[in-house]
Amino acid sequence: MSSHPTISLKVNGRTVTREVAPDRLLVQFLREELALTGTHIGCDTSQCGACTVHLNGHAVKSCNILAVQVAGAEVTTIEGLAPAGGELHPMQAAFKECHGLQCGFCTPGMVMSAVDLVQHHRCSSETEIREGLEGNLCRCTGYHNIVRAVQAGAQAMAK
Ligand code: FES
Ligand code: FES
Repeated sequence: MSSHPTISLKVNGRTVTREVAPDRLLVQFLREELALTGTHIGCDTSQCGACTVHLNGHAVKSCNILAVQVAGAEVTTIEGLAPAGGELHPMQAAFKECHGLQCGFCTPGMVMSAVDLVQHHRCSSETEIREGLEGNLCRCTGYHNIVRAVQAGAQAMAK
Protein backbone atom coordinates (compact mmCIF):
# COMPACT_ATOMS: atom_id res chain seq x y z
CA MET A 1 0.00 0.00 0.00
CA SER A 2 1.30 3.43 -0.96
CA SER A 3 1.95 5.89 1.81
CA HIS A 4 2.22 8.82 -0.55
CA PRO A 5 0.08 11.87 0.13
CA THR A 6 -2.89 12.60 -2.11
CA ILE A 7 -3.10 16.11 -3.51
CA SER A 8 -5.79 17.98 -5.41
CA LEU A 9 -5.12 21.02 -7.53
CA LYS A 10 -6.51 22.76 -10.59
CA VAL A 11 -4.53 22.34 -13.76
CA ASN A 12 -5.66 24.27 -16.81
CA GLY A 13 -9.07 24.74 -15.19
CA ARG A 14 -9.65 21.08 -14.31
CA THR A 15 -9.40 19.62 -10.84
CA VAL A 16 -6.99 16.72 -10.63
CA THR A 17 -6.41 14.47 -7.64
CA ARG A 18 -3.41 12.17 -7.48
CA GLU A 19 -1.17 10.35 -5.08
CA VAL A 20 2.25 11.85 -5.36
CA ALA A 21 5.65 10.95 -4.00
CA PRO A 22 7.00 13.63 -1.65
CA ASP A 23 10.08 14.16 -3.82
CA ARG A 24 8.17 14.48 -7.11
CA LEU A 25 8.86 17.79 -8.84
CA LEU A 26 5.96 19.74 -10.27
CA VAL A 27 7.47 19.49 -13.75
CA GLN A 28 7.61 15.69 -13.46
CA PHE A 29 4.05 15.60 -12.17
CA LEU A 30 2.80 17.68 -15.12
CA ARG A 31 4.69 15.75 -17.75
CA GLU A 32 4.52 12.20 -16.43
CA GLU A 33 1.24 12.09 -14.48
CA LEU A 34 -0.83 14.47 -16.61
CA ALA A 35 0.95 14.08 -19.99
CA LEU A 36 1.30 17.86 -20.28
CA THR A 37 4.57 17.62 -22.15
CA GLY A 38 4.56 21.20 -23.42
CA THR A 39 6.33 22.03 -20.17
CA HIS A 40 9.94 21.16 -20.95
CA ILE A 41 13.00 20.20 -18.93
CA GLY A 42 16.14 21.87 -20.26
CA CYS A 43 18.52 21.71 -17.32
CA ASP A 44 18.96 20.33 -13.84
CA THR A 45 20.16 23.56 -12.28
CA SER A 46 16.98 25.73 -12.39
CA GLN A 47 18.54 28.04 -14.92
CA CYS A 48 16.92 27.55 -18.32
CA GLY A 49 13.25 28.42 -17.72
CA ALA A 50 11.95 25.80 -20.18
CA CYS A 51 9.77 24.45 -17.37
CA THR A 52 7.99 27.76 -16.64
CA VAL A 53 4.29 27.52 -15.79
CA HIS A 54 1.87 29.81 -13.97
CA LEU A 55 1.17 29.03 -10.32
CA ASN A 56 -1.81 31.02 -9.06
CA GLY A 57 -1.28 33.34 -12.02
CA HIS A 58 2.45 33.96 -11.62
CA ALA A 59 5.34 32.47 -13.57
CA VAL A 60 7.40 29.88 -11.70
CA LYS A 61 9.99 27.32 -12.66
CA SER A 62 8.20 24.03 -12.15
CA CYS A 63 11.50 22.15 -11.70
CA ASN A 64 12.03 24.17 -8.57
CA ILE A 65 8.83 23.22 -6.75
CA LEU A 66 7.62 19.95 -5.33
CA ALA A 67 4.23 18.74 -6.52
CA VAL A 68 3.05 18.39 -2.90
CA GLN A 69 3.71 22.11 -2.42
CA VAL A 70 1.04 23.05 -4.94
CA ALA A 71 -1.86 21.19 -3.34
CA GLY A 72 -4.93 23.41 -3.60
CA ALA A 73 -3.30 25.76 -6.09
CA GLU A 74 -4.12 26.65 -9.69
CA VAL A 75 -1.55 25.77 -12.31
CA THR A 76 -1.65 26.83 -15.95
CA THR A 77 0.64 25.24 -18.49
CA ILE A 78 1.22 26.23 -22.10
CA GLU A 79 -1.56 23.80 -23.06
CA GLY A 80 -4.03 25.82 -20.97
CA LEU A 81 -3.04 29.30 -22.09
CA ALA A 82 -5.57 29.26 -24.92
CA PRO A 83 -8.64 27.07 -25.41
CA ALA A 84 -7.88 23.76 -27.11
CA GLY A 85 -8.57 24.04 -30.83
CA GLY A 86 -9.33 27.75 -30.46
CA GLU A 87 -7.35 30.86 -31.26
CA LEU A 88 -3.84 31.21 -29.96
CA HIS A 89 -3.23 33.46 -26.97
CA PRO A 90 -2.04 36.88 -28.27
CA MET A 91 1.45 36.16 -26.95
CA GLN A 92 1.59 32.82 -28.76
CA ALA A 93 0.37 34.51 -31.94
CA ALA A 94 3.04 37.20 -31.58
CA PHE A 95 5.81 34.59 -31.25
CA LYS A 96 4.52 32.96 -34.42
CA GLU A 97 4.22 36.21 -36.36
CA CYS A 98 7.57 37.64 -35.24
CA HIS A 99 9.48 34.37 -35.74
CA GLY A 100 10.31 34.34 -32.05
CA LEU A 101 11.40 30.71 -32.19
CA GLN A 102 13.55 28.30 -34.11
CA CYS A 103 13.63 24.79 -32.62
CA GLY A 104 10.85 25.76 -30.20
CA PHE A 105 12.28 24.01 -27.16
CA CYS A 106 12.42 27.14 -25.02
CA THR A 107 9.20 28.59 -26.42
CA PRO A 108 6.57 27.33 -23.95
CA GLY A 109 8.61 28.67 -21.05
CA MET A 110 9.33 31.92 -22.89
CA VAL A 111 5.65 32.46 -23.62
CA MET A 112 4.57 31.72 -20.04
CA SER A 113 7.23 34.09 -18.68
CA ALA A 114 6.34 36.75 -21.25
CA VAL A 115 2.65 36.69 -20.31
CA ASP A 116 3.58 37.11 -16.65
CA LEU A 117 5.97 39.96 -17.47
CA VAL A 118 3.24 41.82 -19.31
CA GLN A 119 0.42 41.05 -16.87
CA HIS A 120 2.19 41.62 -13.58
CA HIS A 121 5.25 43.70 -14.33
CA ARG A 122 4.01 45.81 -17.26
CA CYS A 123 7.24 45.21 -19.14
CA SER A 124 7.21 46.81 -22.57
CA SER A 125 10.60 48.33 -23.40
CA GLU A 126 13.37 46.24 -24.91
CA THR A 127 15.49 46.67 -21.78
CA GLU A 128 12.68 45.64 -19.45
CA ILE A 129 11.87 42.59 -21.56
CA ARG A 130 15.51 41.50 -21.80
CA GLU A 131 15.89 41.84 -18.03
CA GLY A 132 12.56 40.14 -17.38
CA LEU A 133 13.51 37.15 -19.50
CA GLU A 134 16.92 36.66 -17.87
CA GLY A 135 15.71 33.39 -16.35
CA ASN A 136 14.78 31.92 -19.73
CA LEU A 137 17.54 30.65 -21.98
CA CYS A 138 17.30 30.16 -25.73
CA ARG A 139 20.00 28.28 -27.57
CA CYS A 140 18.85 29.25 -31.06
CA THR A 141 17.46 32.68 -31.69
CA GLY A 142 19.85 35.26 -30.30
CA TYR A 143 16.80 36.70 -28.50
CA HIS A 144 16.19 39.55 -30.96
CA ASN A 145 12.97 38.15 -32.37
CA ILE A 146 11.86 36.94 -28.95
CA VAL A 147 12.04 40.50 -27.65
CA ARG A 148 10.12 41.74 -30.72
CA ALA A 149 7.52 39.05 -30.14
CA VAL A 150 7.05 40.00 -26.49
CA GLN A 151 6.64 43.65 -27.46
CA ALA A 152 4.05 42.71 -30.09
CA GLY A 153 2.33 40.35 -27.66
CA ALA A 154 2.19 43.08 -25.01
CA GLN A 155 0.50 45.43 -27.48
CA ALA A 156 -2.00 42.76 -28.50
CA MET A 157 -2.77 41.90 -24.86
CA ALA A 158 -3.47 45.58 -24.14
CA LYS A 159 -6.30 45.71 -26.72
FE1 FES B 1 13.52 24.24 -14.94
FE2 FES B 1 15.65 24.37 -16.54
S1 FES B 1 14.21 22.76 -16.36
S2 FES B 1 14.91 25.87 -15.14
FE1 FES C 1 15.55 26.72 -29.82
FE2 FES C 1 14.93 28.72 -28.16
S1 FES C 1 14.14 28.35 -30.15
S2 FES C 1 16.09 26.96 -27.72
